[in-house]
Amino acid sequence: MTNVTRLCETKSIVTVNGQFPGPKIVAREGDQVVVKVDNHVPYNISLHWHGIRQLLSAWADGPAYITQCPIQSGHSYVYNFTVVGQRGTLWWHAHISWLRATLYGPIIILPKLGIPYPFEKPYKEVPIIFGEWWKADTEVVINQALQTGGGPNVSDAYTINGLPDTFKIKVKPGKTYLLHIINAALNNELFFSIANHSLTIVEVDAVYVKPFTMDTLLIAPGQTTNVLLTTKAEYPNANFFMEARPYVTGQGTFDNSTVAGILEYENPTSLFSSSINKSFPSYKPILPALNDTSFVTHFTKKLRSLASAQYPANVPQMVDRRFFFTVGLGENPCPENHTCQGPNGTMFAASINNVSFVMPTTALLQSHFSGKSHGVYGSDFPIMPLTPFNYTGTAPNNTFVTNATKVLVLPFNTSVELVMQGTSILGAESHPLHLHGFNFFVVGQGFGNYNPAIDPARFNLVDPVERNTVGVPPGGWVAIRFLADNPGVWFMHCHLEVHTSWGLRMAWLVLDGSLPSQKLPPPPSDLPKC
Ligand code: C2O
Repeated sequence: MTNVTRLCETKSIVTVNGQFPGPKIVAREGDQVVVKVDNHVPYNISLHWHGIRQLLSAWADGPAYITQCPIQSGHSYVYNFTVVGQRGTLWWHAHISWLRATLYGPIIILPKLGIPYPFEKPYKEVPIIFGEWWKADTEVVINQALQTGGGPNVSDAYTINGLPDTFKIKVKPGKTYLLHIINAALNNELFFSIANHSLTIVEVDAVYVKPFTMDTLLIAPGQTTNVLLTTKAEYPNANFFMEARPYVTGQGTFDNSTVAGILEYENPTSLFSSSINKSFPSYKPILPALNDTSFVTHFTKKLRSLASAQYPANVPQMVDRRFFFTVGLGENPCPENHTCQGPNGTMFAASINNVSFVMPTTALLQSHFSGKSHGVYGSDFPIMPLTPFNYTGTAPNNTFVTNATKVLVLPFNTSVELVMQGTSILGAESHPLHLHGFNFFVVGQGFGNYNPAIDPARFNLVDPVERNTVGVPPGGWVAIRFLADNPGVWFMHCHLEVHTSWGLRMAWLVLDGSLPSQKLPPPPSDLPKC
């Protein structure tokens, strides 16, 4: 625990090695990474290496009660994995309850030694990690919300690199900088822009993309991106602000603040490194409106895989199994003799195919591996909605969810197509869905109800973007494809923490293949016990 002062108040927060944001992990493609985690805080902890493929290392993935039991106070666990076929920015964060509020940091994967970037060599690389600052204790906030069934409180400010207002990038004129951008916020997608400068997106989720240039970008929690920033050729005699504020599609309250930082040109004529030069004009970026879904659609449609000979897009062309999942909000009835603060006196819930995932009390992967899954989870996760309805029209009368721990079992090397359909129940919201253990290709997206007779004809099977977290558009759908070539239990969930807590989560169980190299090795001996 470390005392940190923000917004004029001091608070004791969970950190790694006393640092907030946490330490940066720098690795090269192909490196083995070994991280020993000693739990010195009064909370159970697990850490997740968000976006790392974890090929044959599911035991190191980290989501609590999915691949491991959490590390108890006073205990430790060694995460051991190898970075294969990825380069760019990812991140790590706590993966239990809402502890990732303060427990997160960057993972920078450099190309193999001697292999250049497929874009201009940057002069410098700068991390930009967005977060949320909460004056309240986020563990109390979510636990109370789950008790009352109401919407949890919201954060007090957004942060850049842990700071609500004072982050500064010092730059020289005429240089190119590579920004490693990460959205570690709990509950908000964010727009980001730098006044009078444009941003060239060259990578997302540790996969290179066809470069494109924008004034503003959108980044959802869980997403990461590398962006080139080219500074003005001459010292500009001006101050430039960079700002981030939320993209909001929900109906509840949200943190509507804007976080600002400064892009500061080092003054070549002054020996003093002045902060803001008051005699210069200051420019602020113009960000899209909070609910600007058409900007978001325009932006996400520009994302394309590089799909070059060196960095091919291995999009599954054939599909073994097709799945259709609805994702959205719902309700649970209020327990007798309680008053609840959810919609119409019920409790908020969220679900996939109307199943609100109940966290088990032991880890799914452990129970599967030891052959003791009976009574822990069911293998009958619905492959499509049991009762179809007009997903994006008027909500049905009954919007109660079912509550269960179910997984979807896939034989090794199954080629999967998954359509995720947002619902309008309790409001059509955007849901950034994150899949552990795989990258997927985003082959299509649209608004309204997915039409299997028409929409597949427009799928991009040539250069779709490859990533690990994708936004299901509000009142729309997204289609992804992936090859289930990695045995293990792989969590999939909305990366808006409030929706995950309400049950918008499920797990895939990918079975071993027949070859020795297709089998998950036994767990490390220090794997935490529940
Ligand atoms: Cu970044 Cu399961 O999370």
